[in-house]
Amino acid sequence: MLFSGWGSAVETPWPDVAEVPDQVGVRHLVVTRHALVRQVLADPVTYRPDNALDAVTPMPVAALRVLAGHRFRLPPTLANNSGASHPEIRAIVAEALHPARVAAQRPWLTALVRDRVARLGARLDTGASVDLYADLAADLPLLVLARLVELPDAPVAAVKEFARAALELFWAPLDADRQLALAAEVGRFHGVLRDFAAGGGGLAAELRAAGHPPDVVVGALFFLLVAGQETTSQFLTLLLHRLAGEPAVRAGLRTGAVAVADVVEEGLRLEPPIVTWRRVAATDSTLGGTAVPAGSSLVLWLARAGRDPAVVESPDEFRPGQRGSRRHLAFGAGAHRCVGDVLARMEAAVVVAEAAALLDGVTVVRPPWCPDNLTFRMPDAFVVRSVERSGRS
Ligand code: HEM
Repeated sequence: MLFSGWGSAVETPWPDVAEVPDQVGVRHLVVTRHALVRQVLADPVTYRPDNALDAVTPMPVAALRVLAGHRFRLPPTLANNSGASHPEIRAIVAEALHPARVAAQRPWLTALVRDRVARLGARLDTGASVDLYADLAADLPLLVLARLVELPDAPVAAVKEFARAALELFWAPLDADRQLALAAEVGRFHGVLRDFAAGGGGLAAELRAAGHPPDVVVGALFFLLVAGQETTSQFLTLLLHRLAGEPAVRAGLRTGAVAVADVVEEGLRLEPPIVTWRRVAATDSTLGGTAVPAGSSLVLWLARAGRDPAVVESPDEFRPGQRGSRRHLAFGAGAHRCVGDVLARMEAAVVVAEAAALLDGVTVVRPPWCPDNLTFRMPDAFVVRSVERSGRS
């Protein structure tokens, strides 16, 4: 389960808290029930977030040397910060992602998506296949983020490559050669971020002005560039793929019987891009009757919590608006709850509203393939083509 946590059907029984060894023999406590996952997230004193960005495959000396050569550091900043600086750093980031600023991006994003959808529809009409990951979803969140937060002047492809390398380096089971290659990529881009952190404006300047050291400014930019765009582009891809197999939901969207916002929530519940998130036990405790010794790694199975029958009426069915649909934990909970949720929801709502109709009359040529990863889905492509070459309106 550890590296393909989205695949397990809800009928497969799991204990509430299960001890599971990983590929190098480290034992994790996997928490499966909604109430227990929530309990852990809501208690950052007993269950600290310090291990959020720890590499699940320990880095060999050669990869550590490569990172050190790039002066790579990820000090406690946002997701991995249980210290006193967290609330202030979080508040500065939250201001940049304020709901009013997010709402102001909606018309721009709508126009961009509408234009892309029109072009993709025209290509489908010629009988060509289109990749709704590469041609629609992949860069949208980064383009929006760059309008909200001042970022280094790097090509979109370079940021995507770095972000995916980071998700693999820290959360995938890896061999030493791959770790070395990924460390080189992540370390190199970390250098770009460090240069920008020293003199860049916007969020970087605000963090500097608030007295945060350069490593923290780099850490915040690093996390934003990974969490703030890759998660959402993965989600958009997974949601579109899910909708391709849900014609009744698409019909409801067409007539207005199904609300876009409900589709987004049901998508987050059933297709979360982040399937697990970690905490580390600060003290000995008991969770759902299971002893949790201090130092234990807790793997919170967010995807499974979203399908807990104690919370959702029809856990495995995509039924927008059903009882419990919005109670998913896709964005976490408590003091570290995702600070980009409003942005992610806005982006997903625009894509559902504008692009769902593109899925009418298409067949899936290539569903998204997801590699082994503790936390992130990382779909690589989603290719469709029109069933009939003509007849699209
Ligand atoms: C569908 C898209 C997204 C999902 C599923 C998601 C999910 C998550 C999760 C599970 C956490 C950890 C929460 C916890 O520890 O309780 C988190 C934290 C965070 N996310 Fe997101 N996220 C998404 C998009 C975004 C976006 C668009 C941004 C910003 C542009 C963002 C920025 C952050 C930040 C800064 C944190 C750390 C918050 C803290 O520790 O105080 N995320 N996210």
